[in-house]
Amino acid sequence: MPSDRVLHLLGSAAEPVLGVRAAVAHARALGWDVCLGLTPTAADWLREELDTLAELTGYPVKSRFRRPGDPEPWPAADAVLVAPATFNTLNSWALGITDTWVVGHAAEAIGKGVPLIALPRVNSALAAHPQFGRSLATLREAGVELLPNADGILADGLAPLPSVAGPSGFPWAKALAAVERAVPRG
Ligand SMILES: Cc1cc2nc3c(=O)[nH]c(=O)nc-3n(C[C@H](O)[C@H](O)[C@H](O)COP(=O)(O)O)c2cc1C
Repeated sequence: MPSDRVLHLLGSAAEPVLGVRAAVAHARALGWDVCLGLTPTAADWLREELDTLAELTGYPVKSRFRRPGDPEPWPAADAVLVAPATFNTLNSWALGITDTWVVGHAAEAIGKGVPLIALPRVNSALAAHPQFGRSLATLREAGVELLPNADGILADGLAPLPSVAGPSGFPWAKALAAVERAVPRG
């Protein structure tokens, strides 16, 4: 059954990314055509599953910039979900340092005005770094909807508290519900 909405799901290298297959299946069940992008580290963690994930989505899993002249294999996004979003990916995204394809794509999506949702997965030690709160504030100002992490808390609206739950405790369903709210089925 063809889907009418396209979701670009972009995952970085925090453990919940190991559960991305179930999240893709859930999004497809909600009627999304899903394209999966991974940071190079996340793609390495999932290396045994990449073919299965490509088969499940029907699109190549993207983790690197394509070569000049190579065709774009994905349809344009109706929504972009960055989950799980690491400390590194969130800071790079906020600072505009596009040295992974995922960050470059998420950065462009801000400029294109595509609805953007991100679900951080960052522990309290990293969240206490002075740049982190600034990065979240920058992303919010740019229109990114930042969801609470697995503990359900974004303290003072900026720094998430520790999230130590494994992949199964990651609130993928809440992330997909936020995507649904951002782009309801037509
Ligand atoms: C087992 C393991 C779990 C990790 N979990 C997290 C995490 O939950 N959040 C985070 O920000 N970084 C985590 N890291 C560190 C990131 O993988 C590392 O900073 C990496 O450079 C992130 O790259 P990326 O943002 O391009 O995926 C973890 C690393 C390992 C080895």
